[in-house]
Amino acid sequence: MADYWYFQPEFEERTLTFLSQRYEPEDTLVFTIKERDFIDSGNASSTIKNYLQKLGVKPEILRRVAIAAYEAEINVTAHTRGGKVKANIHKDFIHLMFSDKGSGIKDIEQSMSPGFSTADKVMQEMGFGAGLGLPNIKRNSDMLHIMSGENQPTCLEIIIYFGEKILPDHGRSK
Ligand SMILES: Nc1ncnc2c1ncn2[C@@H]1O[C@H](COP(=O)(O)OP(=O)(O)OP(=O)(O)O)[C@@H](O)[C@H]1O
Ligand SMILES: [Mg+2]
Repeated sequence: MADYWYFQPEFEERTLTFLSQRYEPEDTLVFTIKERDFIDSGNASSTIKNYLQKLGVKPEILRRVAIAAYEAEINVTAHTRGGKVKANIHKDFIHLMFSDKGSGIKDIEQSMSPGFSTADKVMQEMGFGAGLGLPNIKRNSDMLHIMSGENQPTCLEIIIYFGEKILPDHGRSK
């Protein structure tokens, strides 16, 4: 297994603090992502986006969440035997966790470089396989963590800050 980490410098310290504590979210949404189901794929990410929109998250942030979540969801559909996404919603950020049933990423650094793709012909005919999904996720995320290996399940975590608190404090000081 190998680890890949990216931190947006502005949020690095906050993110590291969160990751060391992994405190409870305010809300959680969970979705199953089916293998090769390109008709349904995208539903989880659009439901997450709509949920955040109702909470009042700004359009610019919604756009970043939608892109990052969509690319990760499609990757589970396209490159694995299926999986799930758990969206943990905190007061001022979203923490997305995608997990799947393999077949894993042999070289994560290589898979992060724009243009690298193992997409087959069927996927290419559907318009996938430019090798831009992972770089796009990175560009839109404040934290990206990928854990994978050859023939291993992949875990991909994303954090995106809202730039403001969208949920009220409970009157407790944290
Ligand atoms: N969850 C995953 N499990 C296994 N391999 C993955 C996973 N996500 C990405 N990959 C591998 O990383 C490569 C690059 O992914 P990326 O999303 O950047 O491009 P793509 O999916 O091939 O094409 P695009 O996203 O542009 O349609 C993939 O071709 C695949 O080999
Ligand atoms: Mg992709």
